[in-house]
Amino acid sequence: MKIGIDQLHVYTPSLYLDLKDLAKARQVDPDKYTIGIGQDRMGINPITQDTVSMAANAAFPLINARNASEIDMIILATESGTDYSKSGATYLHDLLAIQPFARAIEVKQACYSGTAGIMMAYDYVSNHPDRKVLVVASDIARYGLGTAGEVTQGAGAVAMIISQNPRVLTLNNDSVPYTFHNFDFWRPNYAKNALVDGKYSNQAYIDAFQKTWHEHQRRHHTTLDALAAVCFHLPYSKMGKKALTTILDEESDTTNRLLTRYEKSVQYTRQIGNIYTGSLYLGFASLLDLDESLNAGETIGFFSYGSGSVAEFFTGELVENYRHHLYTSDHEKMLSQRYPLTIEEYETTFLESLPEDGSSVALSHPQDKAVIQLAAMDQHRRIYQIYDKVEQ
Ligand code: COA
Repeated sequence: MKIGIDQLHVYTPSLYLDLKDLAKARQVDPDKYTIGIGQDRMGINPITQDTVSMAANAAFPLINARNASEIDMIILATESGTDYSKSGATYLHDLLAIQPFARAIEVKQACYSGTAGIMMAYDYVSNHPDRKVLVVASDIARYGLGTAGEVTQGAGAVAMIISQNPRVLTLNNDSVPYTFHNFDFWRPNYAKNALVDGKYSNQAYIDAFQKTWHEHQRRHHTTLDALAAVCFHLPYSKMGKKALTTILDEESDTTNRLLTRYEKSVQYTRQIGNIYTGSLYLGFASLLDLDESLNAGETIGFFSYGSGSVAEFFTGELVENYRHHLYTSDHEKMLSQRYPLTIEEYETTFLESLPEDGSSVALSHPQDKAVIQLAAMDQHRRIYQIYDKVEQ
């Protein structure tokens, strides 16, 4: 049975900061950000977009009356969730009008958990071939003003429907997971921003990549020649390349192909930044939308990494006519219609917070045109609103 990604759609909020402006404000050479780290813009969420609303906006175009009755499970992968107890997926279930006899859960393991969601979905569909699973990876990456990680922040979500006979990517059921307890990046329950050992996290990522790749080769006789492209978890656009180049020959057709396609896969990340759980799949969407040389039947490698740490290497095959099922023009429109913030506006937006004392507040933002928004807080409850689609 063929199981995999039937559809995928990306959402990022309507605000961004140009990283040349950030470089100027932090008195850093802009080339360090745009060339050394490889980021051009940072996606920023207004107060009206949180992990749940971003996830709902990512999933909204994928859901119709028919598949809402076929989805048995909603998995929200996030490390910036809104509640210790109630999963964000329960709101998605309501906002997307999914049939009532479904499971709705949230999963966590830093930036890795989107992949955990997909693998759980794969197993579910294997046992229930006529049913579907909605997996949404949604996050707001926060390192803090003036920190080394600030330039890599971002916000966004990727929604995917996992089903039998997928229209975009068939998963090859060849996953090699890897777990190694460490403290490269973590966020204790009392912290608003992540704690990170940046240089060590780069090394831990590369080690995990090499381990999972070599184990994949050993178990499945995988060769680089057989891969049309490799998509990476992208905390910033240079990170995957640092790992990839450790296993490439200096000069070969394979090296050229993988490096050229790597650049296609990082274009959305360069514009949006790190979206933690969704970053690998943001890279996949970028590759699919922007690389016109890819062909159906070709094999894509995927490297997932979540600090703390869990990694996984797996492959999938592009499906015949996959291009007909992409949301390329939606993604292009969304990225081109964003509103640029000044440094002052960015810092004010970054420091804004929701009431924590149960008071009621109505929320709105002039630049938020999303279909689904966080519209109010009332007695510690988040109230979301679905606006008329025409307003977009
Ligand atoms: N022009 C061009 N490149 C420049 C430059 C300039 N003027 N100044 C610096 N650079 C390059 C550096 O040579 C370096 O390149 P390299 O990584 O290929 O060696 C790169 O820019 C980053 O410089 P560095 O001094 O290492 O940056 P930093 O100390 O500010 O930290 C991170 C960079 C990524 C560690 C930091 O942003 C961070 O902690 N990020 C969050 C954690 C993370 O994303 N981890 C990834 C694994 S999950």
